[in-house]
Amino acid sequence: MPWQAVPMANSRSGDSMTERIVRVLDTFTSERTMQTATEIARRTGLPSSTTHRIVGELIEQGLLERDDENRVRLGMRLWELALRGSSALRLRQAALPHMERVQVSIREHTQLAVLEHGEALFLERLSHPDAGANITRIAGRLPLHASSSGLVLLAFADPELRERVLTGPLRAVSSETVTDAHALRALLTSIRRRGYVAAPGSIEAVSTGVAVPVRDHGEVVAALSVVLPRETPPQPAVEALLSAAEGIQRDLRNSH
Ligand code: PHB
Repeated sequence: MPWQAVPMANSRSGDSMTERIVRVLDTFTSERTMQTATEIARRTGLPSSTTHRIVGELIEQGLLERDDENRVRLGMRLWELALRGSSALRLRQAALPHMERVQVSIREHTQLAVLEHGEALFLERLSHPDAGANITRIAGRLPLHASSSGLVLLAFADPELRERVLTGPLRAVSSETVTDAHALRALLTSIRRRGYVAAPGSIEAVSTGVAVPVRDHGEVVAALSVVLPRETPPQPAVEALLSAAEGIQRDLRNSH
């Protein structure tokens, strides 16, 4: 058998095949869901031929899907694989009935977020036809220091992560985002003491985010929140969220 060159695992720039695939997948955002392979190549900075090949292979495997106009989007198979056995799915399933109760009584957006790579990642959001403004999206992210869910997750996070975030920079998302490290440290201490946060205007002036921790076997694994119009008093939402979090914790305890 003639000698054959073994394909190089790494490109000339030194990034592995896996890294290149992740770069391709990472060009998709909640705002940019459809792209051509040429646009993907431009955004990844990878050579056009490499990108077209990776995109073609990902389509073949069902991880990307192509539409009639030759644009691609993330495939259902990616969603299926991501949810299979995922701890996020177990959490979401336990949370949903309790989120619905909050939704019925408070009639505003209700969402569930987890800590993911230094940000709050939203697993679920229930809306109400009359609910006010809300910038959270399912599978979207918000900064830890600027959202009510993020503040709860940060308050109960590993001290190491907390210190890293406190070191800054703390970007102002709105004019009321807490960007002073001393003020943020005091806020996080008060969240741990009180067990909830009401954060008026920290993302947008018109809203107050209210969030509580959700524990699984004692450890905080998520934040449950509602977004209220700024003028709405937060206390009824705090009580509804605390009671829902207890329900979720009970169901998580019984689910394994
Ligand atoms: C919050 O969690 O603080 C929050 C989230 C979305 C908004 C406003 C506030 O639109």
